[in-house]
Amino acid sequence: MDAPHATAGSDAVAEITLTMDDETTPFATYRPPAVCTLDTTSLPDGPHVLHVRARDGLGLVGVRSIPFQVQNGPGITITGLRAHERVSGSVTIDLNAFSASEPFDPVRAESSGPIPVWTWVMIALISAWAGWYGLTQFQEPAAFALSAAKDPVAAANAPMRTTKSVHDSGGGTVAGFDYAASGANLYTANCSACHGATGAGVPGAFPPLAADPVVDAADPKTQIGIVLHGLHGAKIKGTPYVSQMPPFAQLSDNDIAAIIDHERTSWGNAAPIVNPDDVKRAR
Ligand code: HEC
Repeated sequence: MDAPHATAGSDAVAEITLTMDDETTPFATYRPPAVCTLDTTSLPDGPHVLHVRARDGLGLVGVRSIPFQVQNGPGITITGLRAHERVSGSVTIDLNAFSASEPFDPVRAESSGPIPVWTWVMIALISAWAGWYGLTQFQEPAAFALSAAKDPVAAANAPMRTTKSVHDSGGGTVAGFDYAASGANLYTANCSACHGATGAGVPGAFPPLAADPVVDAADPKTQIGIVLHGLHGAKIKGTPYVSQMPPFAQLSDNDIAAIIDHERTSWGNAAPIVNPDDVKRAR
């Protein structure tokens, strides 16, 4: 390589030459210091090495080589096959490409990949926890249990159905007082704060009265006894209740019979109704 600007006998750098990859002929020659412009569009996309050689006046040559990557064509994303991966059978590979002039669009730039297993595990764990919490820990606020919004249909129908049930069960009036019809109001006033407007109770805190073995029993003795004297420390359908059921002996025989009949004929319960004499005998 000739050094046109070399000053013989001096160790000052006389010349810098640039070569690309394996070529031996320099594509540019400068006197230091120099600023050069590398036109990458004349290079094919892919890996290249720029060799910078400096020669001093004594003929000694220093070299620095810089590997770099040219990409003027579209970028490519590949999902499904990684470098040096061991594969067998048929392999599904997601391919995508986007050019440098396109605005960056993550949706286009990223090929859809499979959802990692740990994501499914997290989703499963969170769902299981939510289910467990909902079933065992959630205590429905009493005010919400009462609200008609929770079950507007049942709330609207309950009193009407009660009136009809009295009729259906072939009685339920004493001296002209339709005690079963007034049961819905008395229930709302005395019982629904705990047992809910629809008799659903509050899981773990207050037992449901719908489909309850005591309320739906043919013999009303136990139910009358509980309403008169309260209940504490009992286990109902396997669930122990910490809170206690207060006694309601202060209510009249008529009112207690009315409430009990409302319970026995509502929310799917279909037990024979009682009359105030049954309550009087139980006191
Ligand atoms: C302060 C909350 C509260 C109120 C108000 C309340 N109860 Fe209860 N009730 C309970 C609790 C708690 C239990 C369960 C007690 C236990 O198991 O020791 C219960 C149990 C019962 C049971 C027994 C269910 C069974 O299967 O053994 C009946 C029947 C019942 N209540 C009816 C009523 C009626 C009727 C009223 C209204 C006059 C009423 N309760 C008002 C809290 C209440």
